[in-house]
Amino acid sequence: MTKFKSTKHKILVTSALPYANGSIHCGHLVEYIQTDIFVRFLRLIGEDVLFVCADDTHGAPIEIKAAELGITPEQLIAKVYKEHTQDFKDFLISFDNYHTTNSPENKNYSDLIFERLRKNDFIYTKDIEVTYCEHCKRTLPDRYVKGKCPKCNAPDQYGDVCENCNAAYKTIDLIEPYCAICKNKPIRKTSKHYFFKLSKFSNKLGSWLKKNKNLQPEIKNFVFNWIKNGLEDWNISRDGPYFGFKIPGEEDKYYYVWLDAPIGYIASTDHYCKKHGLKTEDYWNNKNTRIYHFIGKDIIYFHFLFWPAMLLGSDFQLPYEIVVHGFLTVNGEKMSKSRGTFFTAREFLQNYEAEHLRFYYASLLSKTMSDIDLSFDDLSKKINNELAANIGNFCYRVLNFLNKNFDGEIKDIDENKELINDINKVIENIEENYYGLNYIDVVKGILHISSLGNKYFQDNEPWKLINEDKEKVHKILGLCINIAKNLSILIEPILPQFSSNLQKQLNVKDLKWKDINFKLKNHKIGKENILIRKIEEKEIMKLEFPLNLKVAKILEVREHPNADKLYILNIDIGTEKRQLVAGLKDYYTQNELKNKKIIVVTNLKYAKLRGIESQGMLLAGDDGTGCGLLTVDNSNPGDKAYFDGFENSTKELSFDDFLKIQMIVKNSKVYFENKELRTDKETVKVERVKDGARVR
Ligand code: MSP
Ligand code: ZN
Repeated sequence: MTKFKSTKHKILVTSALPYANGSIHCGHLVEYIQTDIFVRFLRLIGEDVLFVCADDTHGAPIEIKAAELGITPEQLIAKVYKEHTQDFKDFLISFDNYHTTNSPENKNYSDLIFERLRKNDFIYTKDIEVTYCEHCKRTLPDRYVKGKCPKCNAPDQYGDVCENCNAAYKTIDLIEPYCAICKNKPIRKTSKHYFFKLSKFSNKLGSWLKKNKNLQPEIKNFVFNWIKNGLEDWNISRDGPYFGFKIPGEEDKYYYVWLDAPIGYIASTDHYCKKHGLKTEDYWNNKNTRIYHFIGKDIIYFHFLFWPAMLLGSDFQLPYEIVVHGFLTVNGEKMSKSRGTFFTAREFLQNYEAEHLRFYYASLLSKTMSDIDLSFDDLSKKINNELAANIGNFCYRVLNFLNKNFDGEIKDIDENKELINDINKVIENIEENYYGLNYIDVVKGILHISSLGNKYFQDNEPWKLINEDKEKVHKILGLCINIAKNLSILIEPILPQFSSNLQKQLNVKDLKWKDINFKLKNHKIGKENILIRKIEEKEIMKLEFPLNLKVAKILEVREHPNADKLYILNIDIGTEKRQLVAGLKDYYTQNELKNKKIIVVTNLKYAKLRGIESQGMLLAGDDGTGCGLLTVDNSNPGDKAYFDGFENSTKELSFDDFLKIQMIVKNSKVYFENKELRTDKETVKVERVKDGARVR
């Protein structure tokens, strides 16, 4: 029936190693879920597969973040390792091994590869100019020096790319550079660095790309273009202080994190092999082994050029396939904290279940680089209308009917050739689509089978027929139970928990791909149960609006003793009274302000303005010439002000992050992402300013 592939090769599968300086978020999960579905399918069909990953623990950001927190980098990465592994477990990601790049195995392989590259004459040293902060006593990595973009003059740009004009440049090209840590002006310094001769690999990389039929053509094309435009040698060292592996023979120089990170794939394999009496070389030095990397489109350069070149230069095997996926957007927007579209894995689980996301992503994923969108409305529609109403419902009604009328036991099946043939054709397609990473069509196929099942059950009207021909109904249910059993196997890679629950109810266990058939007869099932919970309207996740906005009443106004433009306001925000410092003196008299009901941000870090503490901030429109307060008439102090679809956040916010939030005035109202600011009683109004004014 289905075509089984004979196992002649080992398969090694990796997902990119997540950085150990932050939480796993819904964007990351696109990749880990995509990879996990593939691996689970391979296991089910009987392939010899190993799935490894690790935390990517090295680099300047980790060292700096640990210093900020007053802990060692080792403590930081240990804490993150715990969180990451728990997140992966809860999202049912079935790594065979999850390691860390800060491991003896990784040190060993990094040194081995470095030495081989050096011996093969692919490494040389050269003095280069770097940006150094004398105050912090460190060379500043790209992201830690900021300044004006050398191309477009935009202020506050990072040292590598301009977010305003997208120009790429070197840190030393920045105009009026400053250290992002201490804000002092850095100096230039010369430092010796190690370079890898990437340029020597153009031909070999080109012919590998050309020969390899598994790589996505869209990606090959632009990698070819990079090669054609000439590859530059790659700086693989960094000066201390740095968290990483020291370069052999050096005092204060380290491997650049992107050198040892992909080597982490080998190290994690090695760690697993040692524990299980296997040989690492069988995976990394064996022509019969197929290595699959899954990555996002932002790290193509590293995986299609640097990494294969390193492998070529040190006599390891090249990847068989590199699967590149697109980026996740949330409700059509780039994931970003200031837009409220950033969700961690943990936050998702507060409203939903892991399998909701697995099903949703599977229904959107194929082997392309296109971005995919997480819309919480679509998510509930998919779960309720497809998963629950179609598959869930079919299985439930069949099991329920069998238990009620035949004491849970099937005998023979209805030999409905046409239906069985139709289903078998879809199953063959599903198998092909799993192999081809075309999960969109896998999901469609599975839904198609359960629709066929539902229709078959419905058309036969067993609840009527049972009075005329009980034996026929019994056979119909026999066939339906076989369909449900097959569904439980087909869906396992996507929904492992759903699958094992269903198999438990069917009183079968650990079925494999080869068990997909219509041979289950004379079998007693267990008790039926709801397989998937529908998502209620009220549970649908709201986007997070980073500000906590409330109505406040101005009780008192005083002049600031040390500043010309500032007032000190005493305000009432319902539950408490607070003091604000506000630059309103040029625009409002004290009398105009008194008793006004305004909108204030209550979760901003307290700040001292000219010696006086401000415990929050009031919002006003600013159109460049005038300034006007946000006001309400009928609401009370303490009432919540909000944008529809967004939940106010209560997390403390820094002033820098506040400035990133774009609220705009139109028709004397305030808009964020096209939603107007309101309270439960009214729309908030803005005084005095023109359309297009920014709200601050
Ligand atoms: N540490 C490197 C990878 C080293 S691999 C030798 C890294 N880490 S990461 O945490 O930033 O990203 C891990 C993976 O998640 C990458 O493949 C990346 O493309 C993917 N994603 C990160 N954010 C993503 C989205 N918003 N959407 C989809 N994938 C995303 O890169
Ligand atoms: Zn500094």
